[in-house]
Amino acid sequence: MKTAMRSHLCGALRTEHIGATVTVCGWVARRRQHGQSLMFVDLRDHSGQVQCVVDGSVDVRSEYVVAVTATVAARPVGTINPNLATGEIELHDCTVMVLSAALPPPFPIDERADSVDEATRLTYRYLDLRRERMQRNLRTRSAVLAALRSELVPREFVEVETPLLMPSTPEGAREFVVPSRQFPGSFYALPQSPQLFKQLLMVGGTDRYFQFARCLRDEDLRADRQYEFTQLDIEMSFVDQDDVLEVISAAVLAAARAVTGGTVVPIERITWHEAMDRFGVDKPDLRFGLELVELTGVFTGSGFQAFAGAPSVKGIRVPGGSATHNRKALDALTERAKQLGAKGLVWMRVGAGGSLESPVAKFLSAAELAGIVKATGGEDGDLLLLVADEWATVCEVLGQLRNDLGRPPAGEGGFRFAWVTDFPLFVGVDSQTGRPKPGHHPFTRPHPDDLDKLETEPLAVRSRAYDLVLNGWELGSGSIRIHEPDLQQRIFATLGISAEEADRRFGFFLTPFSYGAPPHGGFAVGIDRLVAILAGEDNIREVIAFPKTQSGLDPMTGAPTPIDARQVRELGIRVLPTA
Ligand code: AMO
Ligand code: AMP
Repeated sequence: MKTAMRSHLCGALRTEHIGATVTVCGWVARRRQHGQSLMFVDLRDHSGQVQCVVDGSVDVRSEYVVAVTATVAARPVGTINPNLATGEIELHDCTVMVLSAALPPPFPIDERADSVDEATRLTYRYLDLRRERMQRNLRTRSAVLAALRSELVPREFVEVETPLLMPSTPEGAREFVVPSRQFPGSFYALPQSPQLFKQLLMVGGTDRYFQFARCLRDEDLRADRQYEFTQLDIEMSFVDQDDVLEVISAAVLAAARAVTGGTVVPIERITWHEAMDRFGVDKPDLRFGLELVELTGVFTGSGFQAFAGAPSVKGIRVPGGSATHNRKALDALTERAKQLGAKGLVWMRVGAGGSLESPVAKFLSAAELAGIVKATGGEDGDLLLLVADEWATVCEVLGQLRNDLGRPPAGEGGFRFAWVTDFPLFVGVDSQTGRPKPGHHPFTRPHPDDLDKLETEPLAVRSRAYDLVLNGWELGSGSIRIHEPDLQQRIFATLGISAEEADRRFGFFLTPFSYGAPPHGGFAVGIDRLVAILAGEDNIREVIAFPKTQSGLDPMTGAPTPIDARQVRELGIRVLPTA
């Protein structure tokens, strides 16, 4: 990009520029002195590097900011660098102007910084960001945002900003709160998501809303979680599930194409039940096989008691797994299965002609052994892993083992999106209240076919909630909402929330629904996760300009920091001494 100070970017120079006089600006990436009179300086900007041949007396050091006016020349034969985009040229007759001097950087500004510890990288994030990998990630993020926006605007979505200061809402995670100076003892909460406001935008007749919304949740940080993150948040009126899925599919596929430049595998659709049954998790990674195989029928009436009486038996077949798993590895797998909640793990090695070697083979009839081989499709050299238990436990244990054994690393295996639909409305029972717990949030619409089971068999009620999954990560969630006050009351009643409590906690949200609410639904895509996967990163902090450490700190700014006593007083709060 030409500016008043430069004619070209460092990484843009090619043989076609030979003979031209150019000015490039950037940071000194490397300096190699050749005797008294000659020095090679690699100059870096975000676009790449170019080699400058300068006078040995020029005083520049690592990370100095300089402008170089020079003539583009062909590199002498034998010094061409095929690994560098600018490797066929170099700059001669250089006039070097130092724009800023620099202290020696605390770590090298290149791929060697990948192995520098997190705290140091984040303390000097502005130096870390100079690196090619980080600049590429920032640009990938920007391209993803642009692609998403360009799909939504022509579809008549309206971009609306919603408040950051709001009351507490029932979305599950712990909230960040902000004390009110005007009303001592009262607090705002920072939004976990714009959920309530976007639904009120629908009541307000907006029809189609979107926002790149900053969300805040005080939860334990992990590779795919930060306190602050960004959602592409949408809500639509007069729609059913397919309308929402269509829009989000188009948007995320456009984002993926913007990054890959090529075609992307279409998004598969699978119900929650099928995802659990086949992959053992609600966020299946479709980049690899190792699907769970149904074996319950094989063991009905078996002499092997642990399996005969079990409500569910499933297995996975690991192709060629016999050779790669010695006894120690099998013991480790069994230990892992037990940690995950299994009573045990049966392993079987498939031999020639479909024979099975296993510690439990002696308890099984020839028909059962043949049935296992047939159902799993086991072949000579394969390893079979079997678990018997309640259906949910079997799925969970084998689903984790499947991921342990088969999941490709970030950046490999392409991009495999999946829609998971028909989630259960409730997940389990609250141990304190004995009431069912909402699977998504309490404003999620029950599946119309299951409405009559709401009071009698709540855990069997499916919902109109759906997730988008990419390479085994939950990328986003959404649902068709409840727009009728009486149905909302039924849900609250099931959750054990009285009408008075509902009114007190979410009255501001419920009252509007009595003034004519359109049927509506929506979705939120986790942008940090989407960009991380598309960029081949396995931690979202690599695609966030200024993330927090695993323990929630920003070592660059020092946040969080104490505030002074006057400010504390002004806010009407008191700080307790820490133990
Ligand atoms: P949900 O809570 O499932 O749904 O969040 C949607 C998506 O946001 C991303 N996400 C996060 N990303 C990084 N760090 C975090 N701590 C974090 N928490 C969530 C995930 C997740 O799938 N209001 C509803 C959506 C709706 O119903 O329309 C909501 O927020 O990618
Ligand atoms: P046991 O009869 O309890 O000694 O178990 C024999 C083998 O079956 C051991 O390898 C156990 O790990 C395994 N096993 C026992 N119960 C289960 C189960 N529910 N699912 C999978 N494997 C099991």
